[in-house]
Order: sequence, then structure tokens, then C-alpha cells
Amino acid sequence: MVSDGRSRVDLRSDTVTQPTDQMRDAIRAASVGDDVLGDDPTVQALEERVAAMCGMEAALFMPSGTMANTVAVRAHTQPGDEIVLEREAHIYQYEGGGFAAISGCSVALVDGDRGRMQPSSVASAIRKAAGSLGHYPDATLICVENTANRGGGVCYDQGTLDAIVEVGRANGCALHVDGARLMNAAVATSTSPSRMLEGWDSVSICLSKGLGAPVGSVLAGSTSFIARAHRWRKMLGGGMRQAGVLAAAGWYALDHHVDRLVEDHARARSMAEAMVKHGSFDLDLEAVQTNMVYFAVQGWTAEQTQGHFANAGIDVLTIDDTRCRLVTHLHITDGAVARVEAAVSTVP
Ligand SMILES: Cc1ncc(COP(=O)(O)O)c(C=O)c1O
Repeated sequence: MVSDGRSRVDLRSDTVTQPTDQMRDAIRAASVGDDVLGDDPTVQALEERVAAMCGMEAALFMPSGTMANTVAVRAHTQPGDEIVLEREAHIYQYEGGGFAAISGCSVALVDGDRGRMQPSSVASAIRKAAGSLGHYPDATLICVENTANRGGGVCYDQGTLDAIVEVGRANGCALHVDGARLMNAAVATSTSPSRMLEGWDSVSICLSKGLGAPVGSVLAGSTSFIARAHRWRKMLGGGMRQAGVLAAAGWYALDHHVDRLVEDHARARSMAEAMVKHGSFDLDLEAVQTNMVYFAVQGWTAEQTQGHFANAGIDVLTIDDTRCRLVTHLHITDGAVARVEAAVSTVP
């Protein structure tokens, strides 16, 4: 499982991690009940823990980040509303258009800086039905992504997050954070989740990415928001029965896999620096703030770049015609980094 000197080095995503032996022990030891009937103690404990960590009143365990975001959008909006998103946001790019199908919302897209929206751009994107002779949809929700995946895994600074809250409040918009990798942002910026989320109405956090749990996300917000979210989760079929086995993995991940994210960030940085030093790679080193590196080899297609690394036993993901992405995680050791750096050095 661990990408050491022999096995393949799987850098396609931080979603490829497998539960460690200790996490499997925690899963085995979990007390479980029927969470749809409301009596799984491990799920309840995890929800309370994540709510407290985020400075929110309540939380809800979800099967995936996509469902957590979809339910959040649905619980914050009405059909015909508009949501404000950065152009590269996961909710817009990679969630199957769920915001349109499930919530009946349109989207106002904002051009950002490496996936991050400026408060002034958010303000300009907000349209309201009132005063428009009924021409406009009602923007009722602003979503940011932190870290911003397609931005390169970058983090919002606290001032920008706080200023977007001001914009939302001034315009009667709810505020949601797609925090699939919020703990990476927390570690990279040395900011607690509760401080980062001050003023925000909801957040979704994935346990199954850098944190290494096999399944699960948590959606947090106010008690009334979570009550609405609970109903939408039910309608989408996201109620899970003896889900304590999954929540136990999430609990273990919060105990043991948060502080170590700095190691993932340092390894991503080391590989990115090796690429820059080599000279034939195009990449934005300023965007390498957490566990991702988006890169291209000059004159090569993304398939050629992917093939070069695959021949060295290293798996990366193609992103578009020219760019690939690598993501560090729990199983990427210093030995794996050395293998990647060796493969970098053999690029002509
Ligand atoms: C920023 C972001 N949000 C949401 C998700 C969705 O998570 P899931 O794959 O659990 O549905 C992802 C998945 O990679 C993501 O990167």
C-alpha cells in the first residue's frame, strides 16, 4: 500500500489512500447503531466533534463530498435562485451539474486568482430579482472552495474569507465553504477551522481525501440548516445504517492524520521545486501551497507526460491537453518522492 521503492507510486489523487492497520482496528472496535433510526453513537460523536471543531451548532455525516455540497446547496436555496461560484469550482466542474438538477439553481461564475474569488468580484456577480422587473434570478448563496483544487490546492487568506462574509451579509446571501480539503488549508495557514469559518453558514469537509478515511464527509452548519439538510440527505438516499464503522475511521483520521498533512505539503513542494529546477517543466510554484502540483512538460501533451511517469512506475492524472496533476497523501514516503524526482531528471 505504501508507495515505497518497489510498488507503484500513486499520485493521481489523495482519494486513493487505503485505511491503515490502525484505522482498521478503530473500525473494528466501533460501537454502532442504526443511524437512520438516530442511534449510532459513533456517528453522533463524530458529528458533534466536527460541529465543535468548525464552531457550528450541528453536523451531519455524509457518504461523499459531492452529496454534502449538493445537499448544502439544496438546503440553502429555492429553485430559480442563483449561486455564485468561482469558474473552476468543483461544484461547477465536477459534480455532474447537481446544483442545476437537484436545486434548480443557475450559476454566476466568477473569474478568480488560482481558484480564489475576490470579494469585489463576488459582489459584482450577485444579481437580485427585486428591482430587475423580474429579469434576474435571486442570488442567495455564495460558495468558496478552500483549498481550491483546480487553483492548484491554494488557500484563501483570512482577510478575503472575512470580506466575502461581509459581501454575503450585505446582500442577503448564505455562505458555504466546500472544504473538501479544509484541514490542509488549516494546517498550511496555521488557522483553526473555527476561525476560518467565522461568519460562514455551512462547510463540507471530506474525511476520505488527505485525511485517509475510506468513505465520508461531514456537513456542518446551524441546527435549522442541518435539520433541512437531514431531510435532503434522506431524499437523496444518503441515510446510512451502521455507519459508525465509517465514522470511526473519520474519528481516527482527525486524531492521527491532521498534523501530518505538513509532510504531504513539504513533499509536494519538494517535487515541484525539482521540476522548476529542471527547466523543462511549466508550473506555478506560488500555487503549490498544500498537497497538489499541477504541471506540464514543455512541448509534450499531457498523455506523453503521464506516459513518461507511468514508465517509471508513477501514476499522475491528466487535467487537460497539456497539464497533469500529482497529489501527495498518507502513503507517499520520502522514497516515493525520490523516485518522482529521478523521473523528473530523465525528462529531456
Ligand atoms: C474541492 C472538492 N470538493 C468536493 C469534492 C467531492 O468529493 P467526493 O469525491 O467525496 O464526492 C472533491 C473531490 O475530489 C473536491 O476536490
